[in-house]
Amino acid sequence: MKQNNKCKIVLVGFMGTGKSTIAALLSAHLNWRAVDSDAVVVQSQGRAIAQIFEAEGEAEFRKIETNVLSDLLNSDEQLIIATGGGAVLSDHNRTMMLDHGIVIALHATAEAIVERVKHDTGRPLLQGDVHQNVEKLMRVRKQAYDFAPIQVDTTGKSSHTVVAEIIEILTNQQL
Ligand code: S3P
Repeated sequence: MKQNNKCKIVLVGFMGTGKSTIAALLSAHLNWRAVDSDAVVVQSQGRAIAQIFEAEGEAEFRKIETNVLSDLLNSDEQLIIATGGGAVLSDHNRTMMLDHGIVIALHATAEAIVERVKHDTGRPLLQGDVHQNVEKLMRVRKQAYDFAPIQVDTTGKSSHTVVAEIIEILTNQQL
């Protein structure tokens, strides 16, 4: 992969589409460091995401998320960035991602997502009736990930298949 000014690969997608897993596998393939923007938020705040939501609300979390994303995207290092599922909701964040990185959207069906996240207690927006919350939020965010130039469906595929697909797309685009 050529080094150019877009030296980030940015993974976007709904919760549970496998962004962190795919980022880690891509990292091993490309020898670029993988970083999870949620993990950086947690580290920088010294609190879990659920605690930030509870204490300060979603709006404050989004501000912190934007700052973390901006720092990561503006660093000189080649990075694979797994973003939080709601990071794409801000126009500013979308523009930053497109300006600094190759943006790849991961998709999965609501059923596949529910299977992956149903026992998770760390995602405040899904607590309660997980199935209903996933379906509702997916409806609201129907087109939220369409801005990404590369779209990959992960449903029914192993992580290794998804990574192979992404590598092939990146190679064909001579990035
Ligand atoms: C969110 C997704 C989460 C996390 C937060 C909000 C969202 O990240 O940032 O709970 O709004 O979709 P993951 O997509 O990594 O679960």
